[in-house]
Amino acid sequence: MSQALKEYLSFCQHRVEHALEQRLPSARILPQKLHQAMRYCVLDGGKRTRPLLTYATGQTLGIAPAALDGAACAVEFIHVYSLIHDDLPAMDDDALRRGKPTCHIEFDEATAILTGDALQALAFEILAHDPSIVASDANRLKMITALAKASGSQGMVGGQAIDLDSVGTMLSLPELENMHIHKTGALIRASVTLATLSKSDLDPAVAIKLDHYAKCIGLSFQVKDDILDEESDTATLGKTQGKDKDNNKPTYPALLGMAGAKQKARELHEMALDNLSIFGDEANLLRDLSLYIIERSH
Ligand code: IPE
Ligand code: IPE
Ligand code: MG
Ligand code: MG
Ligand code: MG
Repeated sequence: MSQALKEYLSFCQHRVEHALEQRLPSARILPQKLHQAMRYCVLDGGKRTRPLLTYATGQTLGIAPAALDGAACAVEFIHVYSLIHDDLPAMDDDALRRGKPTCHIEFDEATAILTGDALQALAFEILAHDPSIVASDANRLKMITALAKASGSQGMVGGQAIDLDSVGTMLSLPELENMHIHKTGALIRASVTLATLSKSDLDPAVAIKLDHYAKCIGLSFQVKDDILDEESDTATLGKTQGKDKDNNKPTYPALLGMAGAKQKARELHEMALDNLSIFGDEANLLRDLSLYIIERSH
């Protein structure tokens, strides 16, 4: 990872940790177990790639980080909710997440379902009301719509439905790409959209380029996730390695072979960079981030 991205990642991780903590209900407030579980799952864990993307897009466009705290938290809350439900016995049945027991193991299944539900609701409450968001009312509505679409049956949840329906089957490359674009790509794309909507006078052509960039890295992120599931180890990942094979999931390495999957990730990185060619050095963090996504170790 470039030194500049390393420093910026550390800055964003600290910033979003504080912002998340402030927006989560206290574990002392009733219902305590639910609030404890929300804090357990959200705080002190994860790479925070989606908030990083929101802040880095803001940096490219000259938006102050303080104006993006609400958006960064909203997308991270949706992401954590998706992980909690993804780990449930009815889905991937995972016991380890972010180096800790998963929510249903640490608490119980009902609490894990409710924790996901509550985090999802909190994300939309933030977009609707958070004082950090300075966007016009019209753009705030567009932010809510963008995150709702990215989360719902034609976004992440739709992708998860395809994923579960595909267990034990061999998808074609377009089908696999479609699944990945939805289950992972949509939220990553929304992380950029929430930032572009935070700038009132943004040239629509610029927003489109950033959206295409986000589409590329959204897919490369899941391609790399599939690669890591096969190549990495449980301690590095903080989640159980080899789960995709155990669960008979169609993945990029399964379809293209390991070399083919790595080649695909490279190509998506190059396409992501092409979409940033209209920018100068102000987009260097986004360029570095795209490379980080395909080279990360966890
Ligand atoms: C894992 O996401 C699930 C996918 C969508 C691939 P991350 O790799 O971003 O997980 P955390 O947030 O760092 O734990
Ligand atoms: C999950 O994909 C995508 C989500 C919407 C959570 P995976 O099932 O591959 O994610 P991990 O590997 O468990 O983190
Ligand atoms: Mg899954
Ligand atoms: Mg999983
Ligand atoms: Mg995975």
